[in-house]
Amino acid sequence: MSTTTTISRVGDYVGQTVMLQGWLYNKRSSGKIQFLQVRDGTGLIQCVAVKAEVGEDIFETCASLTQESSLRVTGTVRADDRAPNGYEITVQNVEAVQIAEEYPITLKEHGVDFLLDHRHLWIRVPRQRALLRVRAEVERAVMAFLDGDGFTRIDPPILTPSSCEDTTELFQTKYFDQEAFLTQSGQMYMEAVAMSLGKVYSAGPAFRAEKSKTRRHLIEFWMIEPEMAYYEHEDNLRVQEQLVSHVVNHVLNECEEELHTLGRDIDKLKKVPGTFPRMSYDEGIKWLQKHDFDIKWGDDFGAPHETALSAQFDQPLFIERYPTAIKAFYMQPDPNRPEVALCADMLAPEGYGEIVGGSQRIHDYNLMKERFEQHNLPQDTYAWYLDLRKFGSVPHSGFGLGLERTIAWITGIEHIREAIAFPRMLYRLYP
Ligand code: 4AD
Ligand code: MG
Repeated sequence: MSTTTTISRVGDYVGQTVMLQGWLYNKRSSGKIQFLQVRDGTGLIQCVAVKAEVGEDIFETCASLTQESSLRVTGTVRADDRAPNGYEITVQNVEAVQIAEEYPITLKEHGVDFLLDHRHLWIRVPRQRALLRVRAEVERAVMAFLDGDGFTRIDPPILTPSSCEDTTELFQTKYFDQEAFLTQSGQMYMEAVAMSLGKVYSAGPAFRAEKSKTRRHLIEFWMIEPEMAYYEHEDNLRVQEQLVSHVVNHVLNECEEELHTLGRDIDKLKKVPGTFPRMSYDEGIKWLQKHDFDIKWGDDFGAPHETALSAQFDQPLFIERYPTAIKAFYMQPDPNRPEVALCADMLAPEGYGEIVGGSQRIHDYNLMKERFEQHNLPQDTYAWYLDLRKFGSVPHSGFGLGLERTIAWITGIEHIREAIAFPRMLYRLYP
């Protein structure tokens, strides 16, 4: 009798017969012995088929298995110190579920365009599996932290009649006889629900038709957007550093094997949790000017500026109080210096750039109305947003954490495209 189990659980069955269901990752053979490397989504294990033991037929089946053929293998679990995960299977039986023919992604190197064209298959390799596992753990950690801290998860709409980030491009679509847009951010809706539930967050996709082809930009990405009533700027930063610290600790604890597969330097990650350093936009400009960057007060930071500023620290860096003029219309101006906003961007270490953007929001009706006029925002589609400032308006704050940028940084990958199963990038909608 054999028990059906997974590679991750074989340690519970040493000396017993188990059945594993998976795919052939790689194979070696030495005439009388076949070494099958089998993966099943939970891990990779070597299964050894000895011709003299399994007989002619089963040995033939092993020989017929090609890379990525699906199979069921039955055998005895043996502890083996030389095996990567400490165990090996002595094969008794193999059933080919389906033979894969000419699998395009061989174990040699491929160009990135080829890999992206075959993303539906590329996701099977251990490195991509590790990234998707870390992604799931990052999402889990974010939600565990916020759920445990009194936040309620709310799902804002994807189809919207108006824009939120007036600085970015929108995807437009037909909504019967109206125009609609794919959401860039759920923030405005989260502000509304924060006035009902106090502390809320959303976790969903955001769409931006930006013609940016950088290693940090996706067209469709996922964002976590907490919004908190009665929280001011300082409170907002505290939530952010606690959240990001929690996520990094969680990944260090739960994804040791994945981080190892990815070759991540975990000593760098271990330095992250705690209180994060802060710098004002003003200080940032001065530092950049002193270090020969051609930048003046009022300019936005580009990737090289962000990288240079954050390179001074092992932890994420908050840049606070950017000029009001270069930030979104809804940001609360600093009462002592209205030319800067009560906002912050969190820049990840190691050159990963902005992973969080947030601010205190304008809660005064007249000031918000003034901003609408300055930014030419149509009153009809935004009337509800102004209402929030009319009926029990309170100071409130929130932020958006970009999931893929956070994952790219934590896993140490070169490009954000590998932080999501099916990336949507400039000129890439397939597969
Ligand atoms: O700074 P952003 O544009 O802020 C907002 O959308 C606010 N409404 C959020 C809020 O306050 N509720 O975006 C927030 C984060 C960025 O810091 C970045 O991590 C990520 O979203 N992001 C992107 N990630 C991948 N590709 C893109 N094109 C991104 N644009 C923003
Ligand atoms: Mg931003």
